[in-house]
Amino acid sequence: MRIILIGYMGAGKTTVGKALAAELGVPFYDLDWFITTRYRKSIPEIFAEKGEEGFRELEHRMLHEVAEFEDIVLSCGGGTPCFFDNMEYMNSLADTIYLKAKPAVLAMHLRMGKGKRPLLEGKSPEELETVISEMLLTREPFYSKAKYTIDVSLLDTANKIQESVKLIKELLDKEKNEEVAHRRL
Ligand code: S3P
Repeated sequence: MRIILIGYMGAGKTTVGKALAAELGVPFYDLDWFITTRYRKSIPEIFAEKGEEGFRELEHRMLHEVAEFEDIVLSCGGGTPCFFDNMEYMNSLADTIYLKAKPAVLAMHLRMGKGKRPLLEGKSPEELETVISEMLLTREPFYSKAKYTIDVSLLDTANKIQESVKLIKELLDKEKNEEVAHRRL
C-alpha cells in the first residue's frame, strides 16, 4: 500500500498526510522534508543555489527514492506532479489523491502558514489569489490525473483534517471492496 497526496501549496497535504498515516498506522513522509534532511538545506536555500530547474531535478530523484518505500503515506510538493513524468510514475505505484481547493481557500491557508515558499516570495496578500489562480490553470491538468480527488474547500473548516482522512479512507475502502467483488465474479 502506498498513498501519495498531491495538490497546490496550502492545500493541507502535510497536515492531512500526517493524520492519515497516524490513522492507518503507517509511516508518514513529506517529500520536502526528505529533501531538506538529505541535503541539509532549506527549500528556499536550494532554490537560491540551484534555481527552480536544479530543485526540480533533485525533487524528481528524491521522489524515486521515497516512493519506492512500501506501506507509507507520502505528501509531495505542490509542483512535484507537474515536472518530468512524475505524475505517471506516482500513478504507477500508488493511490494518488488530489487535495483540491479554491484559490481563495489556498490563499487564506498560505497567509496563515509560516512556511516559506520561494515561488510566492514577495507577493502581497492581494496579489496572492490572482497568482494562485494563474498557476492553477497550468497545474490543474497534472493534478487532475490523480486517481482520486477530494475538494477540501467543501469541507467544514473546523473538522477539515478529520473529514479529509475519513473521506480518503472511504474512497480507498470502496476501491478495495470493488476489487474483491470483481475477483468473485
Ligand atoms: C512548491 C511547493 C512547495 C515546495 C517548493 C515548490 C511548488 O511544497 O516543494 O516551494 O512548486 O508548488 P508545498 O506544496 O508543500 O508547499
